[in-house]
Amino acid sequence: HPGPDLAPSLLAWYDRHRRVLPWRALPGQKADPYRVWLSEIMLQQTTVAAVKDYFLDFTGRWPTVADLAAAHLDDVLRAWAGLGYYARARNMHRCAGLVVERHGGVFPSDEAELRQLPGVGDYTAAAIAAIAFDRPAAVMDGNVERVMARIFAVETPLPTAKPTLKAHAAALTPRRRPGDYAQAVMDLGATICTPRSPKCILCPWTEACRARRRGIAETLPAKLAK
Ligand code: ADE
Repeated sequence: HPGPDLAPSLLAWYDRHRRVLPWRALPGQKADPYRVWLSEIMLQQTTVAAVKDYFLDFTGRWPTVADLAAAHLDDVLRAWAGLGYYARARNMHRCAGLVVERHGGVFPSDEAELRQLPGVGDYTAAAIAAIAFDRPAAVMDGNVERVMARIFAVETPLPTAKPTLKAHAAALTPRRRPGDYAQAVMDLGATICTPRSPKCILCPWTEACRARRRGIAETLPAKLAK
């Protein structure tokens, strides 16, 4: 398994190329779990570019989870207008209330506890644990699945390949800087290891990538014919 050695080169790449996003802490600063949670909920079905303005608007109006919990649902839904999937906004508001009532306004750091919150599934729980609390949680989204399928040349189609891809992702997750690592894999998938025309020449993992070596990177991950 080429796992253990891959994280340092990706972290070095991230230190040079990390995207500046409004919910990201500056290097060396602590992430705010509220802002990480809010951004991950918004990013669930929406692009980074579309989320930025909404994120700034929400955090300007409601700077803490207690502020959001105290807001009227109508105001939250109005601010959400345009992002789509209104169930996300309703769950978000309910979740803010629960964090205040049951957790004293402090987000739990444990993945299993996070998963109990409304609107927080496997992906979001892992993302908050990793990014907000620097826990070595394996964050799986479409970007990470694609990167794992290519590095390990997993030719089994999705969704069958998911458990294999998750196991690879978990094996690669480092004990050191897991939060930066999680965001680095997402950035790699979003900017380098793209679905079409991946920029392998710029990739910090190009030497290790089995799919690139076989010339099949762009074909992965395979998807079950519909
Ligand atoms: N997409 C979803 N979560 C993200 C994050 N934390 N950074 C960049 N892209 C993302």
